[in-house]
Amino acid sequence: MSNDGRFAVVHNGIIENYLELRRELIKDGYIFQSETDTETIVHLLELYYDGDIKAAVMKTAARLEGSYALGIVCTDTPDALYVVREASPLILGVGVGENYFASDVTALVSHTKNVIYLEDGEFAKLTPDSITVCDCAGREVKKPISRVTWSVEAAEKGGYEHFMLKEIMEQPAAVKAALAPRIHEGRVQLDGFELGEEELRGISKIIITACGSAYYAGCSGRYAIERLCRVPVQVELASELRPMVDEHTLVLVISQSGETADTIAALKECKARGAKVIGIVNVVGSTIAKLADFTLYTFAGPEIAVATTKGYTTQLTVLYLFALYMAEKLGRIDAESYTTLVKELQHLPRKLQQTIDMNWQIPKLVSRYASHSLFFIGRNTDYAVALEGALKMKEISYLHAESYAAGELKHGTIALIEENQPVIAVCCNEALMDKTLSNIVEVKARGAKVLALSCKGNKKIVSQADDVIFIPRVETVFSAALAVVPLQLLAYYAAKEKGCDIDKPKNLAKSVTVE
Ligand code: F6R
Repeated sequence: MSNDGRFAVVHNGIIENYLELRRELIKDGYIFQSETDTETIVHLLELYYDGDIKAAVMKTAARLEGSYALGIVCTDTPDALYVVREASPLILGVGVGENYFASDVTALVSHTKNVIYLEDGEFAKLTPDSITVCDCAGREVKKPISRVTWSVEAAEKGGYEHFMLKEIMEQPAAVKAALAPRIHEGRVQLDGFELGEEELRGISKIIITACGSAYYAGCSGRYAIERLCRVPVQVELASELRPMVDEHTLVLVISQSGETADTIAALKECKARGAKVIGIVNVVGSTIAKLADFTLYTFAGPEIAVATTKGYTTQLTVLYLFALYMAEKLGRIDAESYTTLVKELQHLPRKLQQTIDMNWQIPKLVSRYASHSLFFIGRNTDYAVALEGALKMKEISYLHAESYAAGELKHGTIALIEENQPVIAVCCNEALMDKTLSNIVEVKARGAKVLALSCKGNKKIVSQADDVIFIPRVETVFSAALAVVPLQLLAYYAAKEKGCDIDKPKNLAKSVTVE
């Protein structure tokens, strides 16, 4: 709140030059109650206010560097809310006799499905009966009202104890929603992706960039694309991307929220260097969806739990569709393999349901394997799954979990293995089975207890591991989408046993809108 008590703000984002502003304001006599960057905003509003709130907000916004979605109230106009955004999501909800603002559309769906997406630099005044939007020059602009298709039920727990469990269970339906509109008469069609065959042939490499789980989805996607299309794929953390890209590079930017600041920065960088960018995004109207040249939506529906589950599996699904689409367009796949793989993709929702049904015993394994620090190991596609499994475990159960490429253990990490060390071995890749089995033998010989994850019917693994969890048999290229599910459940039940706040783990936010 401002010193004169006139203004109060809520802020999502980060003000990068706040120390400089704070020093200036303190010199001018303003008293700070906190160490937050947000507090500088409210004092600037007081400084610039001379009876015209819009002018004060515009002048304040002009001083701020960084990212912000601001909600402002002023005691002089108690029936109005003022909002402004820059590099941080802000959505207006249009109601009857009431209007709203939020950073995320999921917060609005139980109140209204009519929304206005604000652009960077735009300012709006909301009263119960009106919404006025102005551009950064203060000129009034007419904004279209979009209709959100997500249902209210989808944004509620529907009888489940946590959103995360509900979202794990929704994966068969979510993957079906991602697949169904894109497979017609046995062929993959990607509406929204309009590069001609000539242009596709001109692509010399593909870069996948994202953060967190979306990055791990990219790691799995890489194997699928390289195997089916025989185009080199580089997967880069968005926060580390120093792109060697040009107009012959195709960039896949993956983001559930479409608002992750690092991913947006990477996207802009790649576009500036002439690359064509495809966004693989869940939230319609989000920044990445708008900035990308083409957008392939994942159609997962609202994902509320901070730890992503159906967001991740639908990202994988879109990557698989993309791999098959490209492989066919480039003539890199024979007709028979294409038909088989498309069919197999169509079976994924059913197999996901089987995976969930087969893994009812997971809660029983928790006390044995999720007791202290865990290792997740695997090779190739299984390694990509191990990465995601370890992240899920860390973020919701707060147990220390690391993932290693199984073949790397003997290059150092195996020194950490001691009596009773839990090792989760992902072993779904038939071609690499024997190699991973030798790694299981190595860690067991040093005292580890091994929980293996493999495809049904794998007898060898039963004789080597202490416990085995199975998924249905599936083409290796798509196995990550099934293999991740038991690991999501393991993390969920480990967190539940520890009494953690599963849907809102500490120190984490659903969309990370600061770099
Ligand atoms: C982990 C998780 C995060 C996100 C990451 C990227 O469960 O949810 O690691 O995957 O913050 O978020 P999006 O996909 O919204 O860009």
